Parts: sequence; C-alpha cells; structure tokens
Amino acid sequence: MKALIPAAGLGTRFLPATKAVPKEMLMVVDRPAIQYVVEEGLASGADEVVLINSRSKKVIEEHFAPNPALVEELRARGKAAYADEVERVGNLPVSYVYQGEALGLGHAVLQAAGKTGDEPFFVLLGDVLVPDNAMLPAMKAVSDAHGGASVIAVIPVPDEEVSRFGIIDGAEVSEGVWKVSGLVEKPALEDAPTHLAVFGRYLLSPRVMELLADVRPGVGGEIQLTDALEAVLAGEEMYALVVDPADGFDTGTVESWLATNNELCRRAGIC
Ligand code: UTP
Repeated sequence: MKALIPAAGLGTRFLPATKAVPKEMLMVVDRPAIQYVVEEGLASGADEVVLINSRSKKVIEEHFAPNPALVEELRARGKAAYADEVERVGNLPVSYVYQGEALGLGHAVLQAAGKTGDEPFFVLLGDVLVPDNAMLPAMKAVSDAHGGASVIAVIPVPDEEVSRFGIIDGAEVSEGVWKVSGLVEKPALEDAPTHLAVFGRYLLSPRVMELLADVRPGVGGEIQLTDALEAVLAGEEMYALVVDPADGFDTGTVESWLATNNELCRRAGIC
C-alpha cells in the first residue's frame, strides 16, 4: 500500500511568500510542514511514500536528499545533534512523481496511478498536519472492518465554516463512523446535509484511481478528487471517520498556518 502526498499546488494564498519557497516548505515550529506529512506517511504502515511534486518545487526534494558535506561540517564543528537530524531527514525513503501543471487535487493523485496499481492507497494532503500520526491507522481499521472500503477523515465544523469545505451526506453506523451516501463541494449552509467536512486524509480503493482518469475538469477548470469519490459511490461503499479537530491542522492559509504554529509551539512547551 502506498501513501501519496500531493504537494504540487501553486500556494496562491501565501503569495508573495510562496514565490520562491513552496507552501509545503514553510516552517511549522521547527521543521517544514511537509516533513510532518512525510513522517506520518512513513509511520502509517505504507510500503512507500510517494510525493507528487511540481518540477518548480525542487527544494522539497533537496530537503529530503542526503547532504554529506553539511553533515561532515556540522560534526567537525561539534554540532552532533544537528548533524544526526540532517542525516536522518536526508535518509527518509521518499519517492517522487510529477504533476506537470497544477490542474487540481484529483489530477495530482492521478499522476501516481503507476505506483498504486490495483491496491488501495492513502492520500495525505501536503498542507494538512496530523502530528500524532494516529489518524491513518484508525482509518485503516475502519476499512478493514468494512471489507476494505474507502474511508475518508471528516471533522465537525461550525455553521460559518460549512461553505468552505467538501461536506459528506450519510448516516452514522457506529460511534464516529458514517456510511457516506454523497459529497457536496462547498455547499451553502441551508443545502449542507451534515456539518462533517472532508479533512485531508483518505484511504481510497483502486477504483477511485480508475475513475479519476475519467473525471472531467470541474470547478475552476480543476480535476477534483471529490468528483471521483462521488462516482465511486455508485458501485462501492465508502465510510467516513469523524476525527477530533484537535488532532489535525490545516496550514493552507496564512491564518491557519499561524494558528497551527501557535498551537504546536504551545504544545511543544516552546512558547
Ligand atoms: P490546496 O488547494 O490547499 O493547495 O491543495 P494550493 O492549490 O497550492 O493552494 P492555493 O489554493 O493556490 O492557495 C491541497 C494540497 O494539494 C496539493 C497542494 O500542493 C496541497 O498540498 N495540490 C493542489 C497539488 O498537488 N496539485 C494541484 O493541482 C492542487
């Protein structure tokens, strides 16, 4: 099973900061955001972590590449702890595929079709952090309990946030587990079937990858993952696991990135 990390987006909402530095490389407390996500993928039980990158965001790959000269220099200067950490991060096993143009999350995921074959796969959004690494194993357990069905993580959101997210429709089948009957992208509050928002962690059946190849561009000319999820419901069951909003952090906007830094800094006892 592969863990796919789409990180090829434009990061428009952070411009001009993301003109030269990818959004996923912005610091969260003491490391780039993407490092949390890669480490979560490696802790998930997946046999390979595949980062879906853009050719113009090579600095992400530099972060995960070995740098023996820097390690040697740090050791010569007596900075062994830093040397060890640089060495460790440079040896994390990550592979790469490329999205030629930022045509949407679904299109990004589709670029890894050659990696996933006929196996289910995880998708971890590159700008959403789950620092305790516990969410994917919990989703896998739900999938196993339901015959290998797709499972998406959802969080309860207040009225005023409903129209900013993909919202699920469905019915609760056991505590915190919903059987999904539909998905609505950014509904008006009065049209929202629930207050459960798609959050950025997915365990998807191979059928979703097949369907993605047929998805036509939708909102904003982008190929939406949500459209393939909607399509898969015609032939397969899908479940949603309600997760605690305190376990996950969106860093996709300046406000949420700042709030994530503040909260994780506080939890680390640094500030
Ligand atoms: P976002 O929509 O939050 O990222 O996608 P973005 O497109 O970079 O941000 P804005 O809207 O321009 O500000 C969530 C994740 O999916 C990746 C992003 O890199 C991010 O980690 N993504 C998004 C892709 O890999 N390819 C895309 O075409 C779109």
